Amino acid sequence: MDFNLTEEQQMIQQAARDFAHAELLQGVIERDREQKFPYEAVKKMGEMGFLGMMVDPKYGGAGLDSMSYVLAMEEISKIDASAAVVMSVNNSLVCAGIEKFASEEQKMKYLKPLASGEVIGAFALSEPEAGSDATSQATTAEDKGDYYLLNGTKNWITNGGNATYYVVIAQTHPEKKHKGINAFIVERGWEGFQVGKKEDKLGIRGSDTHSLMFTDVKVPKENRIGEDGFGFAFAMAVLNGGRIGIASQALGIASGAYELSLKYAKERKSFGTEIINHQAIAFKLADMHVSIMAARMLIYKAAAEKDEGKDISESGAMAKLYASQVAMDTTIEAVQIHGGYGYVKEYHVERMMRDAKITQIYEGTSEIQKIVISRAIAKK
Ligand code: CAA
Repeated sequence: MDFNLTEEQQMIQQAARDFAHAELLQGVIERDREQKFPYEAVKKMGEMGFLGMMVDPKYGGAGLDSMSYVLAMEEISKIDASAAVVMSVNNSLVCAGIEKFASEEQKMKYLKPLASGEVIGAFALSEPEAGSDATSQATTAEDKGDYYLLNGTKNWITNGGNATYYVVIAQTHPEKKHKGINAFIVERGWEGFQVGKKEDKLGIRGSDTHSLMFTDVKVPKENRIGEDGFGFAFAMAVLNGGRIGIASQALGIASGAYELSLKYAKERKSFGTEIINHQAIAFKLADMHVSIMAARMLIYKAAAEKDEGKDISESGAMAKLYASQVAMDTTIEAVQIHGGYGYVKEYHVERMMRDAKITQIYEGTSEIQKIVISRAIAKK
């Protein structure tokens, strides 16, 4: 597998790096403290094509490959993991699923504004009683002829407060279990659709995570994605393909923390020398460097396979499982290397440590990744 980046991929990586430094670095500490959504930066991300990176230009996207996407995700995540998850959800969970499975009419109506960044989207699968256990959807979509009646509550929905369009998963035929589930495109503002409370989170505090309430929301039949009963397969396919986004977010958090730690270790002196000269610190940096590179290779492999049109359920889960562990380990050690400075907000690494944890939880916990991987191994 050839991981030499093309000229175009290098340009995108540099553009994302420049953008993150120019538009996201300033204010990242304040947004984290105040739980402020990065409105201006997200608008600019849309203008730069970062919100619909892999979507065909005829639907408003940038028409780039998955490798470009993971490169950009890493660079944005190094500086601001909150802005990065807004980007990841819009690209991976919303645009990708609509582009692959929705009708032409749905794409013209919804994908164009979503991929061009005119509006952002959210993916509503998780529920108060169904996070990992996605087959147990309690939200119902009752078939009423030319529309569905949607009732239920969704929890922990990224972009929940700022999205205009929502991909919502709900149960239509409970007796058919996962084969009775459907996916719908739901518009903000429809009668009976209420955005609930914003969660006060440990990390990624600049992103908005909300519950959503649906009370007798009329969803036109033409807003169902795919055939009746396709919703669970749709959700699984979207998550399988999308996990490289969160894997890259984890990688960016880890590499951002590593770069800050390396710089600090070369400047900070103790016992008469720069602390990088102490093996206690140097070995930590060596471990970080190796594990970050290994995570990057797993992500590039999955991205390359996706670009080849292969099923990346296993490689995407491997990349996410490993990169999120690396993000956690690296950020904990980054705080340790920074000592007392690491424990205060000004030095960024305490935020990165808090941000890292969610990468082991959303878009499937680490345990879910192990289920996906072990099932794939068992089939070989
Ligand atoms: N890919 C494709 N198909 C899959 C699949 C996968 N990874 N996993 C299961 N399936 C299929 C099975 O083949 C089966 O289909 P058939 O009946 O046609 O054979 C069907 O789905 C049901 O499978 P199981 O009986 O094995 O289902 P299960 O209930 O035991 O487990 C699960 C399924 C893998 C655990 C699934 O529920 C899952 O992936 N859960 C995690 C959900 C998740 O990632 N949630 C995160 C929410 S999104 C988010 O976080 C967004 C955000 O805001 C950032």
